[in-house]
Amino acid sequence: MIKLIHSYWAIIVLTIIVLATVNALVGYFSKKEFKDKDLRISLFALITTHIQVLIGLGYYFMSPVYQTMKANGMGYIMKDAELRKQAVEHPIMMILAVVFITIGFSKHKKKESDNDKFKTITMFYTLALIFVLAMIPWSTWLGLS
Ligand code: HEM
Repeated sequence: MIKLIHSYWAIIVLTIIVLATVNALVGYFSKKEFKDKDLRISLFALITTHIQVLIGLGYYFMSPVYQTMKANGMGYIMKDAELRKQAVEHPIMMILAVVFITIGFSKHKKKESDNDKFKTITMFYTLALIFVLAMIPWSTWLGLS
């Protein structure tokens, strides 16, 4: 059940990070005014990603990979590329992605000019998007393979 929630919530997370990043990019390059809708979309990305981390953490301790880690030890996990990805790389890199979004969101508020606000969000959200895209297990997610 929680795996399913984590899996479907990821669709919302991915969509909103892409939208928020593209929105900031467009705003930056076309030197737009930073409006309420720009704040809302960036904030929405912040909220949905934080929720995903909580769901991910909840799922982690019930996941098969965690049970394998408990039964066989960390060394066993680290020697296997696929298990290492699931147990270590995916969680850490995703948390880092959310940290980038959090930093980007809080830094943009301190910027004076609208263009600097868009620039800050563009930089941090793009970085986060790259991490998320790199760490989604595409071959298993939603039976995509
Ligand atoms: C922005 C944050 C995150 C996104 C977008 C995300 C996305 C995903 C997706 C799409 C899957 C595949 C689900 C499936 O195959 O049905 C997955 C699996 C998983 N996630 Fe996350 N996740 C995030 C954060 C986290 C965090 C913080 C943790 C743990 C602390 C976590 C733990 C797991 C585990 C254990 C799996 C199953 C193993 C695997 O297939 O890699 N996730 N995640």
